[in-house]
Amino acid sequence: MRLPKQVKIVEVGPRDGLQNEAQVVPAAIKVELIERLARAGLAAVEATSFVSPRWVPQMADQSEVMAALTRLEGVSYPVLVPNLKGLAAAVAAGAREIAVFGAASESFSQKNINCSVAESLARFAEVIGNAEKHGLKVRGYLSCVLGCPYEGEIAPTRVAEVAQQLFDLGCYEISLGDTIGIGTPAEAQRMIDAVAARVPLAHLAVHFHDTYGQALANILAVLEQGVRVIDSSVSGLGGCPYARGAAGNVASEDVLYMLEGLGIDTGVDLDALIDAGRFICDYLGRPSGSKVALAWGERQASPGR
Ligand code: HMG
Ligand code: MG
Repeated sequence: MRLPKQVKIVEVGPRDGLQNEAQVVPAAIKVELIERLARAGLAAVEATSFVSPRWVPQMADQSEVMAALTRLEGVSYPVLVPNLKGLAAAVAAGAREIAVFGAASESFSQKNINCSVAESLARFAEVIGNAEKHGLKVRGYLSCVLGCPYEGEIAPTRVAEVAQQLFDLGCYEISLGDTIGIGTPAEAQRMIDAVAARVPLAHLAVHFHDTYGQALANILAVLEQGVRVIDSSVSGLGGCPYARGAAGNVASEDVLYMLEGLGIDTGVDLDALIDAGRFICDYLGRPSGSKVALAWGERQASPGR
């Protein structure tokens, strides 16, 4: 296996995870979660999103969360921004990194951000141009890279085309999202091959949801191809409000455990990460979606086993 010595984990639980929760989570709990994740050693913790509160009510407290956050040196706290209105609010809240989010599927783009792919790219051009004037870094998400809940299969060439457009607009990294967690390792590799022909591998990240239980296998497959940035969500929280049935992102604890087993350094402390996961699961009143966190808990309860 051709594997790296180091990998960066981008923690998306406080945003991608919590955005899907039906019960409103207070801003103070979100802040505590973000701070615990940063203290666990994660270099990037996606904090919230500046989207319409009518579309995603759970993120309506975005400015309150940003204001209350104690930021650690060297940690980035990106926020999702769909348009200029969101950008203005993100800048006012002190965001230093934003993420625009588009899709490789027309139908998903309409359902998620109420515009076509072409319209979204025109919007992002304005957002990115303005963000750069404010000195903000911009990441780009691309959803439905291995399938769409409305259209089914999405051609890798289409994924590559939109990824390149996001990259050309100025996104420093393109996070390739299997929004409905449907892809398998060979499909993931074919998709990465197609995208890497148009965007340098060093600027690609992967964002696997674990609906079909394929996420860790997919991550291993793309690590072998040279991908070095992985999005994941503490306790496997989440889903997507515009992709019914989509499970949470691959659990950060499970990704970290696998990477540690492979001898790959991330700078993240597994015990502290598990504690952060326990904190939010206790609040939500349900067990962790991370197999590693569950096994860890059982081992602590019965150390002899
Ligand atoms: P729209 O309805 O077309 O927007 O929504 P509009 O410009 O016509 O405005 C309608 C109303 O929304 C107006 O309010 C605006 O002011 C307000 P009104 O005058 O009617 O009272 N509005 C806003 N308010 C606050 N912040 C804003 C904002 N923009 C407009 N930024 C829009 C278009 C993009 C706003 C909407 O569709 C939206 O907010 N969508 C976000 C959906 C979302 O957050 N989805 C989840 C994140 S993506 C994801 O999870 C996938 C990812 O994880 C990768 C993967 O897994 O694939 C990233
Ligand atoms: Mg997602």
